[in-house]
Amino acid sequence: MTKTQRVLSGVQPTGALHLGNWLGAIRNWVELQQTHETFVCVVDLHAITVKHDPKVLSKNTLNTAALYIACGMDPHKSSIFIQSQISAHSELCWLLNCLTPLNWMERMIQFKEKSLKQGDNVSIGLLDYPVLMAADILLYDADLVPVGEDQKQHLELARDIAHQRINARFSLDGNPILKVPKPLILKDGAKVMSLSDGLNKMSKSDPNTNSRITLLDTPEVVSKKIKRAKTDSHIGLQFDNKNRPEANNLLTLYSILSGKDRESVAKECAEMGWGKFKPLLTEATISSLQPIQSKYVELMKDPTELEKILSKGRKEAEVVAESTLRRVKSALGIKLRN
Ligand code: TYM
Repeated sequence: MTKTQRVLSGVQPTGALHLGNWLGAIRNWVELQQTHETFVCVVDLHAITVKHDPKVLSKNTLNTAALYIACGMDPHKSSIFIQSQISAHSELCWLLNCLTPLNWMERMIQFKEKSLKQGDNVSIGLLDYPVLMAADILLYDADLVPVGEDQKQHLELARDIAHQRINARFSLDGNPILKVPKPLILKDGAKVMSLSDGLNKMSKSDPNTNSRITLLDTPEVVSKKIKRAKTDSHIGLQFDNKNRPEANNLLTLYSILSGKDRESVAKECAEMGWGKFKPLLTEATISSLQPIQSKYVELMKDPTELEKILSKGRKEAEVVAESTLRRVKSALGIKLRN
């Protein structure tokens, strides 16, 4: 089958990947690689927009790539690479920076939230982060960008930059210079909530490690975290995002991880108390993570194989990225090397 549509996505190597990253993003990549030309990168340049430890970053970069594969990304079906190894990402980011209004950036919700936490230490990189993300996407002429709900605004920015700031201004013949991408945000799993607060999303940066289940948590740790997960005092369990955010989140997780649809989960759990439900969720979580964890261990035993996969991915991605970069430079009047 010829794959005519392209997908690009990525995760930051800022810490252990959690259920939100898997269910909101990576799980969808795994499906899409069957039918779409798929590029996925470990976005390490994004990870230095907040304070970081160099040793931890390089280790996490490889671990994250290994987790992509452990979750089902197939290096024969998709290109898996490290963002910083393709300089076109930074280069396109600069070109886009010069064309993106500052007030578009100041509106970004994630910037506002993260910068509040950092006080005076906010870097220009943190403000510029969505432009780098736009460059990641636009370099690959991506049709679809599978992400969780929290990235929706960044995707809109990438679309606006491509459409309003590049195509509308610089196309001479009416043909677009850059493809305007579409987000792909699935209904289930697009916003996995924290285990300690059903109103906040599960996040790598939450200081409370009990708020998230990581893909490499042992069965004991999974069990402990689910035991401690916040609940409510209503009788019976229901999907009810408005009044029962914790119940809604844990039932949604159970539905996805057990492979049962929402209706049958609603029926199964309608009369249940938390004491009966939590072991079921624990069991479903442990058995979904088990194959990922064993594949991960196997991959980490042979780092040269992983390096080979990343090198193949980089070569495939670089051809596409370089060609788009030349197209943009040429449209902007930047003199190309012969
Ligand atoms: P990051 O690293 O924060 O998250 C990676 C992916 O996981 C999704 N996600 C969630 N989905 C559901 N529930 C949650 N609680 C949850 N937490 C995270 C995110 O939506 C994302 O899809 N800026 C991006 C990384 C990035 C990128 C890109 C993504 C850089 N360049 C180009 C797509 C295309 C980020 O910080 O994701």
